[in-house]
Amino acid sequence: MQTNLRGRDVIDFQEWTKDEVDTVLDVAFALKRDRALGQPHPYLRDKVLAMLFFFASTRTRASFEAGMAQLGGHAQFIESRSTQIAHGDTAKEIGEILGRYNDGIAIRNVDWGVGNTYLREVATASRAPVLNMQCDQFHPHQALADLMTVIERFGDPRGRTATVSWACARSYSKPISVPQSLILLLPRFGMNVRLVHPPEFALMPEVVEQARENARRSRASFEVLDDFDEGIRGTDVVYAKSWGAVLTATDEAEEARLLDRYASWVTDGRRLATAGEDAVYMHPLPAERGVEVTDEVIDGPRSAVYDQAENRLHGQKAVMALTMR
Ligand code: CP
Repeated sequence: MQTNLRGRDVIDFQEWTKDEVDTVLDVAFALKRDRALGQPHPYLRDKVLAMLFFFASTRTRASFEAGMAQLGGHAQFIESRSTQIAHGDTAKEIGEILGRYNDGIAIRNVDWGVGNTYLREVATASRAPVLNMQCDQFHPHQALADLMTVIERFGDPRGRTATVSWACARSYSKPISVPQSLILLLPRFGMNVRLVHPPEFALMPEVVEQARENARRSRASFEVLDDFDEGIRGTDVVYAKSWGAVLTATDEAEEARLLDRYASWVTDGRRLATAGEDAVYMHPLPAERGVEVTDEVIDGPRSAVYDQAENRLHGQKAVMALTMR
């Protein structure tokens, strides 16, 4: 167990050791237990978290804000559009200033080619830790909640297979941050990972290579497939969600044409039936029902989507209690 995580940024858990992530998991499950028992746990009394959003959120905002209240502190909700960022406040200034007012700065900026750089610039300038509420490359707190959910369902995740797959959705071009954080984190806990996507929906090559290396070090397997049915067959975790063709499509019209080509990539009962006998369906939400996944699957007995959403609260509370104390 690592006991000196105060002040640490969370841009992605790839930058934390396995031992450090184990500590977060340990504290997260303890806090979940405390909450179930009605046991107060005000580890961050009088502390304040700034939550700076450049993009919409339901779960991330609500879970960070509830978590800070349950830890005895306060979270201030700041939308970029109601700040002076559009009129010139730089990332350095945001880090310097919000870091002096607060004990942590959480940021969501998913703009492709911008978000991760922005978070790192704020982190460099800030005296308080920066927590990634999703950038263009990573969504570490989603991956943490997902790992907690897998552990709750299966116990030791070692040797289990997780299929991290693209699925069709049309509402907007979603970031590649969820699959990237998942393929990095899950193999470190001994899970065999199948990354499945049409060729045009590739992830960042350097991230895929790092995921492959994580798997090699854990003696787990890592495969990249382009057949949805093959990817699901016999697996333990069906984690199928949409993401944008950010590395290949040059405009929205081209991405729309690709979506037409791969419209059959929907998680339905027929496909889920080919997975392992105790397989679980996972999705970070929001999902496009009827396009990305059928009601039968997302509302069915194998769906873990509400446990994933709940675990956002407990995982993030652990991160905040350890880094902002
Ligand atoms: N899963 C997730 O990050 O949800 P929100 O976009 O609602 O925060």
